[in-house]
Amino acid sequence: MLRGSRIVGLGHHVPDRVVTNLDLAKFIDTSHEWIVQRTGIEERRWVDGDVGPSDLAEVAARQALDEAGLAPDDLDMIIFATLSPDVFFPGSSCILQGKLGIPGVATLDIRNQCTGFVYAMSVADQFIRTGAMNHVLVVGAEVHSTGLDMSTRGRDVTVLFGDGAGAAVLSPTEGENRIVDSRLHADGRNYDILMVEAPASRSNPRLTEEMMLEGRHYPSMDGRSVFRFAVDRLPAVINEVLDAHGHSAADIDMLIPHQANLRINQMAARTLGLSEEQVFNNIHKYGNTTAASIPIALHEAVQEGRIRSGDLVVLAAFGAGLTWGANLIRW
Ligand code: ACO
Repeated sequence: MLRGSRIVGLGHHVPDRVVTNLDLAKFIDTSHEWIVQRTGIEERRWVDGDVGPSDLAEVAARQALDEAGLAPDDLDMIIFATLSPDVFFPGSSCILQGKLGIPGVATLDIRNQCTGFVYAMSVADQFIRTGAMNHVLVVGAEVHSTGLDMSTRGRDVTVLFGDGAGAAVLSPTEGENRIVDSRLHADGRNYDILMVEAPASRSNPRLTEEMMLEGRHYPSMDGRSVFRFAVDRLPAVINEVLDAHGHSAADIDMLIPHQANLRINQMAARTLGLSEEQVFNNIHKYGNTTAASIPIALHEAVQEGRIRSGDLVVLAAFGAGLTWGANLIRW
């Protein structure tokens, strides 16, 4: 077979601090019942103090490297998917590279929000297929909690998000167990239905007191539109990547969907005719960790023995941008 890429190591890391729905109800007008019924989320992890996504990512990356039997300096490239970079610039991939102590290694940040990890996997796969790179570290990591509106004004968004990181090491293969294919999409016409507006380089100055008083530095979301978009595009892109290789949803051994809302994943599973055993969800523990949600869920599914060699695995996501995509993997 032609050269391709496969996952040879996985890792994930979440902060120790558990924030339950009851904890949120102490400072936001919300309830455990409302959050669980609408989203399936019971608790999430939030960082304490000054912790960036590259800090969480370093722990996940070192685990993934250990599992792969590789050292940091075996890497040719780091691809870091995040919507909450440590700083405006430089990219978190550079900051992580410094922490791993591997100067000279190529770095790339992917800014495709919840679909970021799926995009990053595809980019890594292309670099490895062409022979340009051998070992690539793919990371999804987020710190949301430092940028959420901790008042009732932001309750529709604040209850959703959690912090965390997941990592995968990809290496070349000529065998059948590989990333088979990916499908990537975006539609920027409605980019503003889910966004953080400020600080922004298109505003001069980038951030004003007025913007902060209006809460424009917090995420804003038209939740119903995002919900409708997600239940349509998630099954569509899964079918698209399966069809391209003569498969149908019945062939899926494990679907790892982005963890944004349990109801979205249940509706997508129903549309595809998938059983509960064919879908992995862990949103009740972590909330929506955007680019980190798929690698965290993938690692847990493998650790729990729910994915075995030879299985057909699909990673699929949707998110701000709007963006959506899927990776098809023969494990
Ligand atoms: N607690 C209590 N009440 C709330 C809360 C809360 N946390 N949040 C909103 N409400 C209220 C609203 O104020 C509104 O009240 P009103 O009717 O008096 O105005 C009411 O609840 C809205 O209720 P619903 O319309 O039933 O809310 P909905 O069913 O749309 O659920 C939700 C909201 C959970 C946000 C849903 O729309 C959703 O999950 N959408 C998709 C979100 C998503 O997947 N985002 C992806 C993010 S990923 C990324 O790329 C960043």
